[in-house]
Amino acid sequence: MTDETAAPASTWHDVGDLSEVERRRRTVVSVGDDEIVVVAHEGRLFALDNVCIHRQRELNKGVVLRDRLVCPGHQWAFALDTGWEATKQQCQPVYSVRVTDAGRVEVDLASRRINPAPVEQPQ
Ligand code: FES
Repeated sequence: MTDETAAPASTWHDVGDLSEVERRRRTVVSVGDDEIVVVAHEGRLFALDNVCIHRQRELNKGVVLRDRLVCPGHQWAFALDTGWEATKQQCQPVYSVRVTDAGRVEVDLASRRINPAPVEQPQ
């Protein structure tokens, strides 16, 4: 018998204090067998799978360049907000991130998504 009055388990996972996440710029959290990298960039927060979809290098060891996280393996450049890699036409999974009233950064594990190709705007 299940308890139908119980609140659903939260899917928000604590990453750390906002000031610490911003100071580090890249924070890796382990969730089970998976790793998520939270990137603090120009006042915004982003979260992506830390293991590259190409050949499994760790994205937290890459660099941020023009709003993209560049993998140290073969320089695929994933857009921080969508995970999209424009040259290879592939997507690194991304997550939603929030900051709580208490100043904690959290990632929504249930929000993991692979975005479709962005729609080209007519000139
Ligand atoms: S392992 Fe990331 S681009 Fe090849």
